Amino acid sequence: MRFLAQKSTLRQTKSDAVAVFVLQNKRHFETQIQNLTKTLRLPIANIVKLERFAGKEGELVQLYTERKLAAPRLIIVGLGELEKLTLERMRCAAAAAAKKAEQLKAKSIAFNLPQIPSDGFRESVEDVAQAIVEGSVLSLYKFDKYLTEKKKKEGKLSYVSVFHPHRLVFQQIKSGVGMGRAVCEAVYHARDLENAPSNEIYPESLAAAARDAAAKYGFQTIVWDKKRIEREGFGGLLGVSSGSARPPVFIIMEYHGREDKVPPLVLIGKGITFDAGGISIKPSAGMAEMKMDMSGAAAVIGTMEVAARLKLPVNLVGLVPATENMPSGSALKPGDIVRHYGGKTSEVVDTDAEGRLILADALAYAAKYKPAAVVDLATLTGACVVALGHHATGMMGNDEELMGKLKRAGEKTYERVWQLPLFEEYEKQIKSDVADVKNLGGKWAGAITAALFLKKFVKDCKWVHLDIAGPAILDEDLPYTPKGGSGVGVRLVVELLRVWGALNGWQRHRKRMSSSSAEAGYLSEPWGRWKSETTEPVQCRGVRLSSSPPVP
Ligand code: BES
Ligand code: ZN
Ligand code: ZN
Repeated sequence: MRFLAQKSTLRQTKSDAVAVFVLQNKRHFETQIQNLTKTLRLPIANIVKLERFAGKEGELVQLYTERKLAAPRLIIVGLGELEKLTLERMRCAAAAAAKKAEQLKAKSIAFNLPQIPSDGFRESVEDVAQAIVEGSVLSLYKFDKYLTEKKKKEGKLSYVSVFHPHRLVFQQIKSGVGMGRAVCEAVYHARDLENAPSNEIYPESLAAAARDAAAKYGFQTIVWDKKRIEREGFGGLLGVSSGSARPPVFIIMEYHGREDKVPPLVLIGKGITFDAGGISIKPSAGMAEMKMDMSGAAAVIGTMEVAARLKLPVNLVGLVPATENMPSGSALKPGDIVRHYGGKTSEVVDTDAEGRLILADALAYAAKYKPAAVVDLATLTGACVVALGHHATGMMGNDEELMGKLKRAGEKTYERVWQLPLFEEYEKQIKSDVADVKNLGGKWAGAITAALFLKKFVKDCKWVHLDIAGPAILDEDLPYTPKGGSGVGVRLVVELLRVWGALNGWQRHRKRMSSSSAEAGYLSEPWGRWKSETTEPVQCRGVRLSSSPPVP
C-alpha cells in the first residue's frame, strides 16, 4: 500500500476514485450536496434523491464524474449525525468507501478531508486523517500469500491519500497520514504473523521476523536459544516446549526513545506459535485457530515497529517467550511441577493452561529492567471470550491510573478494554498443596484466576494484563477487520505510548532529537547490553503530538 497526502482541491485531485464525506444533518447535508453540484456541474441532487441517499452512517452513493473532476469516480459517503460523530465512525465510513472503490476496480482512492463544523466535533485534523487512513487501509487487508491462482492479483487498491488545498491543513494531514501509515503497516505485519500457519511461523521464525523488523525500523533484538533459556532457569517456557520438535526462543527487543536513564515500559507478548493443548489436548474442532496463539507477541512486535519508526519519546522493552504447546512422549504432563525464573514453582494441573507458564518467566525477568510499568498481552483464556466476546479485551492489573490510561486509549482507538476485578477471594482457587501456585483455577472466573496466577510473578511494579483472546481472533468480518488475526493491541498500546511520551518529556525529547545527539546503549545493564546489535534508526515522517486545531 502507498500512503499520500495531497495538497489539492476536489477538482484537481488525481486518483482513480475520490471519496467525499457528508453529514446526515439536514442543513449540512443540503449545503454539501449543493457544493458538490456546483463543483461537478452534475445533477448530484437528483442522483442522491434517486438513490435515496441521506448521509446516514454507512450509506454510499457512487457516480462517474465525466471529466468534471481529475478523478473518474466519485464516492459520496454518509457519516451519520454530527452529534454522534466519532473517529470510529470516520474509520468505518472510510472503510466502506475503500471497499467500494476496490469493487469498482479502482487502484487508488483519495479522501477529501471532511467538512465538519468545529462546534460539534473536536478531534484534530491529524487524528481525522489518521482515522481515515486506518479505516480504509485496514479494511483492505487480505491474507492471500498462499493463493497461487489469479484471485491474488485481481483488483487490488494500492494507493490511499487524503487531500486538502490549504497548506496548513495539508501539513497536518501529512503528519496524520504518516502516523496512520506506520500504524497500518505494523497492524498488517501483526496480522500476517497471526494468520501465517504454524509451519511457517514457529518460535525461531517468529524471532527472525522480530530481527528483520528491528533492522528495518531501528530497534534492537537479542534472541535466546534453548541453551540460554535453560541457563537462565525459565522452567515454564522449557516445560511447555518440551513436547515440541521445535526449540523455544526468548526474544528481547529494545527501543531507546530517550537518552536519559528513564525506566522503560516493558511489553510482554504470549508467543505460543501453536497451542494443541499439550497432553491435555484440545478437541480437533477449532484447533487450527490456535496458530494465532502468538497474537500477543505479534502485537508487541508491531508496537516496537511503530515506536521506532515514529521515534516516540519512550524507552521500551519487548519480551516474547515463544514455543509450541504440543503433546508427545517428552511433553509436560498434568501433575508436573516447574520452577520459574526467580525460583517460584507452579503445579501444572492442565497443560493447556500453558500461556501463564511461559508468561510467568517473562514477568519475573522483567523486574531486571526496573520498569516504569509492565503491560502483557496474551490470548490467555477462553473464559475471557465467553465473558466479553470479540469486542473487548479483558483488562486486569494492580494500577488504576495505568488502567485508566489504557481505557482512554481503548476508547480513542476503539480497541476497547474492559476491566475485570482481581478480588483476593479468587486467589484460593489457584492455591496448590505441592507448589507455590497451580495453573488451573477451576470452573469459574477463568480469566481472573489466570491473571491472579500472573500477578504472583510481578515484582512491586505497575502491571496491567490484557487478555486479548476475543478480539485477536475473529470468526467474522468487522468493518475494517477481516476475519482471522486482527492485529489487536498495536493501535491500543501505540496510543498509550503517545500519551506516555507526551506526559514524560516529549518537549525535552524533541529538543534533543533536533540537536541529533541521540545515542543508543546509554543505559545500565541489562537495558543497554546489546549495543553491538544496534541498527541504524530509519528516518521517517515527523509526527507532531501537539494538538492541532479542530477540523475546519
Ligand atoms: N490459547 C488458549 C486460550 C484461547 C482460547 C485463546 C480461545 C483464544 C481463543 C489457552 O492456552 C487455553 O487453552 N486456555 C484454556 C485454559 C484452561 C485449560 C484453564 C481455556 O481457556 O480453555
Ligand atoms: Zn492452551
Ligand atoms: Zn494458549
